[in-house]
Amino acid sequence: MKNQNNNAKVTLVGAGPGDIDLITIKGVNAIKNADCILYDALVNPEILKYAKANTPCIYVGKRFNNHKLPQQEINNLLVEKAIELGHVVRLKGGDSFVFGRGSEEIDHIESYSIPTEIIPGISSALAVPALQGIPLTKRTVNESFWVITGTTSNGNISKDIKLGAQSSATLVILMGLRNFSLIMEELKQFRHKYTPFAIIQNGSLPTEKITIETINNYKNVIDTIDYASPGIIVVGDVVAEHTSFLDEEIQRVLNSSF
Ligand SMILES: C[S@@+](CC[C@H](N)C(=O)[O-])C[C@H]1O[C@@H](n2cnc3c(N)ncnc32)[C@H](O)[C@@H]1O
Repeated sequence: MKNQNNNAKVTLVGAGPGDIDLITIKGVNAIKNADCILYDALVNPEILKYAKANTPCIYVGKRFNNHKLPQQEINNLLVEKAIELGHVVRLKGGDSFVFGRGSEEIDHIESYSIPTEIIPGISSALAVPALQGIPLTKRTVNESFWVITGTTSNGNISKDIKLGAQSSATLVILMGLRNFSLIMEELKQFRHKYTPFAIIQNGSLPTEKITIETINNYKNVIDTIDYASPGIIVVGDVVAEHTSFLDEEIQRVLNSSF
């Protein structure tokens, strides 16, 4: 396939964590200007209302074990649509370069001499804890935060979980719910047993749900996990900043003293 369309271009737009008001103005302007849009499962489809009437909007969504289109086919479709229609907007959940395979898509598109542009988005790794009032860093509590995948391409948990557990960092674990117990067992080896963690699902959406526990008691929350919804795990003392944590701690102390 040769690029014979001078208007061919692909813009990668990070759509943010779900709430459509959490996309950038630049991202909205790109959608308004698109001749074709390819969007993922974690993109709120309401955001497509900004597109021109009759703009083809193609769902290429992927969820765990339910790949609608293999990555190679998505790459090819981006090139094909740019050559055929002109400006393609590739909409991805959060930020395209945070576990979003954005750079693979850019490499493929540019190998056809099609120009690309990146419009950053607000990653769920940052936005979802913030919306719950959980700071990723707090003076005197921690000095860094790590954003780690809980499931690597071969299905195992990342070795970085063990490394991160040995630091004082807040750990923000994406794609970790299916390996939740393995992750918690790893963390228990290195962090004190009262280290709090939060599981936040469907962050920024009306269906958002948060569960807070300490790593010692992680088994109490396994049944609350909804494997069909996206969720992040936040681990570290900063989780104690969540409003519900103090109440739960008081209840725990009161219950244990009788
Ligand atoms: C393939 S990664 C993509 C991350 C995305 N590029 C970003 O920057 O947010 C998908 C994972 O992001 C997390 N995630 C994305 N949106 C979320 C949301 N609204 N609430 C909770 N977790 C979310 C989940 O861990 C999900 O499994």
